[in-house]
Amino acid sequence: IRVPVPENEPVYNYAPGSPERAGLKQALEEMAAQKIEIPLLIGGREVRTGRMGKVVMPHDHGHQLAEYHQAGPEEVKQAIAAALQAREGWQRMRWEERAAIFLKAADLLATKYRYQINAGSMLSTSKNAFQAEIDAACELIDFLRFNVYYAQQIYEEQPMINARGLWNMVQHRPLEGFVFAVTPFNFTAIAGNLPTAPVIMGNVAVWKPASSCVYTPWLFMKILQEAGLPDGVINFVPGRGADVGDVCLADENLAGIHFTGSTAVFQSMWRKVGENIANYKSYPRIVGETGGKDFVFAHASADVDGLVTALVRGAFEYQGQKCSAASRAYIPASLWPEVERRLKEEIDRIKMGDVRDFRNLVNAVIDRSAFDTITRYIDLAKDSADAAIIAGGGYDDSKGYFIEPTVILAAKPDFTTMVEEIFGPVLTIYVYPDAEYEQTLELCDRTSPYALTGAIFSQQRTATSLALAKLENAAGNFYINDKPTGAVVGQQPFGGGRASGTNDKAGSILNLIRWVSPRTIKETF
Ligand code: SER
Repeated sequence: IRVPVPENEPVYNYAPGSPERAGLKQALEEMAAQKIEIPLLIGGREVRTGRMGKVVMPHDHGHQLAEYHQAGPEEVKQAIAAALQAREGWQRMRWEERAAIFLKAADLLATKYRYQINAGSMLSTSKNAFQAEIDAACELIDFLRFNVYYAQQIYEEQPMINARGLWNMVQHRPLEGFVFAVTPFNFTAIAGNLPTAPVIMGNVAVWKPASSCVYTPWLFMKILQEAGLPDGVINFVPGRGADVGDVCLADENLAGIHFTGSTAVFQSMWRKVGENIANYKSYPRIVGETGGKDFVFAHASADVDGLVTALVRGAFEYQGQKCSAASRAYIPASLWPEVERRLKEEIDRIKMGDVRDFRNLVNAVIDRSAFDTITRYIDLAKDSADAAIIAGGGYDDSKGYFIEPTVILAAKPDFTTMVEEIFGPVLTIYVYPDAEYEQTLELCDRTSPYALTGAIFSQQRTATSLALAKLENAAGNFYINDKPTGAVVGQQPFGGGRASGTNDKAGSILNLIRWVSPRTIKETF
């Protein structure tokens, strides 16, 4: 069997009057009118604990879309037991048959469930139609199809030398135990990828979705079941981080962690793994993507059109809640007057509001806690002599968690909002003297502990080369004359180093290879 190189799923544009827009609008209406109940899924069985959490619309927080049952320690133990029980049968299944399940799930997402998964993502996480489409539909479909393709490459890789009288073989077995997948709120695609990537390689998983993103993970879980995923291979256990995490991390069968979320949570998981290290049967694989303080750096030769577009789209799409979002920018003084004027014009044109009005580019931030954190940073800038707010700065949580796209001009390159991750629609800009290009690149490199994404805007090759060299370790995904967001599976493998994660490149063979524990067999004749 040969899996052809997949093509990226085409992105629908939901143009006014199109059948796609009508289909999506209908799904939005139907889903907003219902309140669903989301159970746990353990060994293929729906489990109801009665300890309820709520799913509300961030742009209309009085409107509840769902309630979900939360796992406690007992259910998490059952989920681990169910995973371990499913392991043998799953591992024994030919990998081509396993692959068929994920290819079918991708097709179901692309056709039958495309509007539902997008509408669910729009309503429950406040994404506009385009942001939902590139994530919950296209990127998730791409992850499934490309991961199957990468799996094939791994399974086919064999030792090169089989001399006379001997036969060498490498078996790409799954890890011995279960993988704990902990997923974020901001991308349904990432939420779907974290449990499925290890599972495509024959592993079994316990999946804890973020409390602020249970709705679309549940829809995806149901799609996986419909595609034929056997019971117990992925066990779905929303719940409090401490309840679910503590049980999984203390279990002797923990074989891997596949994580996307905050740096603080990832570090606390490493600590717990450290505390338990003598109890595990094997050293757990730890793969994680955490925070970012992603930069856009302009050289004096930069094309201002492209730069301004990158700043606006990079910083404000999905309200800046992408780990890749542009959050700090370095602009040469010679370009600043024009960049400032154009940036303000663009921001003035942005409409903010409910996702169901397709004209709104910016919607609400995810929840109360995000709203409070982000607005604290805005207030800090308002009160500081070292910063000025030059666009936005307003916020209102009376109906939804709305924060205006905000630009802070920092007088000092180490002003707090230039350094700390905010994870909201806030861009801080530092204007540097043109003659200090190289020093400012060095400053950019040492300003933040993170190294996820970054962009250089320059029309001069020597300046671009200098940025590539000086910022070599400052971004795992580096963009030349483009925004730092929107990595596409199969095109730009995604992940960063330093405090941003283990850089095991989601959407690439490098990630899938972490989920096998190869056995080398040498037979002599
Ligand atoms: N992969 C996303 C992007 O590139 C972020 O997680 O924007």
